[in-house]
Amino acid sequence: MKKKVFLTRTLHNFALKELRKKYQIEIHSGKIPIPQTILRSKIKEIDGLICFPYDSINKKIIEEGKNLKVISTYSVGFDHIDTEYAKKKKIRVGFTPEVLTDATADMAFLLLLDIARRVTEGDKIIREGKWKEIYGAFDYVGVDLQGKTIGILGLGRIGSTLAKRAKAFDMKIIYHNRKPVTKSKEKLLDTKYVSFEKLITQSDFLSIHVPHTKETDRLFNMKIFRKMKKTAFLINTSRGKVINEKDLAIALKKKIISGAGLDVFDKEPIKKNHPFVKLPNIVLTPHIGSSTKETRIKMAEITVKNLNLGINGKKPIYSVGY
Ligand code: DGY
Repeated sequence: MKKKVFLTRTLHNFALKELRKKYQIEIHSGKIPIPQTILRSKIKEIDGLICFPYDSINKKIIEEGKNLKVISTYSVGFDHIDTEYAKKKKIRVGFTPEVLTDATADMAFLLLLDIARRVTEGDKIIREGKWKEIYGAFDYVGVDLQGKTIGILGLGRIGSTLAKRAKAFDMKIIYHNRKPVTKSKEKLLDTKYVSFEKLITQSDFLSIHVPHTKETDRLFNMKIFRKMKKTAFLINTSRGKVINEKDLAIALKKKIISGAGLDVFDKEPIKKNHPFVKLPNIVLTPHIGSSTKETRIKMAEITVKNLNLGINGKKPIYSVGY
């Protein structure tokens, strides 16, 4: 009998074809994210699960997975999975780093450029028929990147790739990590380790590349915004819960900091009445950091490979924990 695999959302045809060859598969096609009640009943029967960042794979869900061997998430982030409990139950957890590094770093740099040069704001002005001033000395003035300091919180794969982009734009690069990277990596990326305090006070652009954990929950709040430069811009392509959104909306409104570029939010999708939506000094994108055709295909390949390995008791190519 074929092993059973459940997908909380569909994937590319090539991936489904490969899965169908080996397994009996079922794809959830209803409400997104999949309601916990449905997931709890499905998980009882399956050997492998393919999930997405919005699916909460908590202890209660994992507990029901009597035959479950592997959870393979179509994402680099795994804060939606209780990985500790999965490990305790000897269930493998696979994720998809590396393949999405360039796309996500591009996105962070794109948000940075956009907010610095007021691209989306200008686009909106034209579309709304509000373009009145033509080429004046003070119209739609942005800021240069050259010579400015970019602070990178989390110099991992994506943070390091962003540093390369910033270097090409002649920016000064500083970073903060729990531990400094090797001297040779610092040299290669032309970057300097600084304390968190220095990172927030010295950055002209601050880009967040840390996962959402107990330590990083609402790390960016009014206390921090008040310490940042008034001219600073905040960029986030990691997880929305790292920022206190209420505080950020006030900080942007009162010009405590200059602007922000966000791809991720506390609760996604954000609604039209979210305080960010009315602010002119923020660029918003709908969690598309890794969303390029090529990257999404590579993510599907890795997701299937991780599942294939884990379902047979082997370590996924990219494995959380063990
Ligand atoms: C991830 O992979 O965790 C990203 O947030 C999805 O773009």
